[in-house]
Amino acid sequence: MQKLVVLTGAGVSAESGLKTFRDAGGLWEGHDVMDVASIDGWHRNPALVLDFYNQRRQQALQAKPNRGHQLIAELEKYFEVIVITQNVDNLHEKAGSSAVIHLHGELFKCRSVADDKLIYDMDGWQLNQGDLCEKGAQLRPHIVWFGEAVPLLDRAICEVASADLIIIVGTSLKVYPAASLIQYAPDNIQKYIIDPNMPNVTHISNVHCFEKRGSEGMKAVYELLTSSSK
Ligand code: OAD
Repeated sequence: MQKLVVLTGAGVSAESGLKTFRDAGGLWEGHDVMDVASIDGWHRNPALVLDFYNQRRQQALQAKPNRGHQLIAELEKYFEVIVITQNVDNLHEKAGSSAVIHLHGELFKCRSVADDKLIYDMDGWQLNQGDLCEKGAQLRPHIVWFGEAVPLLDRAICEVASADLIIIVGTSLKVYPAASLIQYAPDNIQKYIIDPNMPNVTHISNVHCFEKRGSEGMKAVYELLTSSSK
């Protein structure tokens, strides 16, 4: 089976009712991204950050995968599909994708501030000050914030470098190192980009642009990639 790597960003979840970052003029749900999604923001005001992610979890619990997520999962019938997402929601998993790399962490996990390896699944949506790990240290959202390393980057680079096909859906390609992943793709493979506001892709070879929302763009790409197998 050919390996299909799908890189996704906030835009793939927009039709599920979850807001993107940069479409709202730099604000995310009314907050400066650096206040709620940076390590400095956490040190300045952990209560604000915990509350912010509690709200995001409540919202994500209500959200359902859309046709874009579903078609990505359905491509597993034809390809070995690896999803590399910048999103912290779990909509790819809810849609049935079986291999998802969360480059920027996961909303429904938390971890110890004292030990990065102590990571816990969360049942509900609340994480508060005073919620402690087994070593007695505060728990924090398992999110890669601005100012922090991206632990899954090397794994993601290996997947992109060994891909036979690439689809990119709903990312402004403005946040590094995620945006640089495409540079590791072999030059000669086909790359399909879906976004209603096409980011700058002039540096990418063999690129096919679909200036559409995630669900419509995925339908077009799905038909293109699977028509020869039907
Ligand atoms: P952005 O908000 O920067 O970009 C979202 C992209 O989705 C834009 O290019 C939009 O045009 C596109 N879009 C909007 N509606 C869409 C739809 N219905 N279908 C498809 N695409 C649509 O989000 P990301 O690129 O994901 O990091 O942002 C990257 C990172 O910046 C995030 O992971 C987050 C943020 O700060 C952290 O929180 C660490």
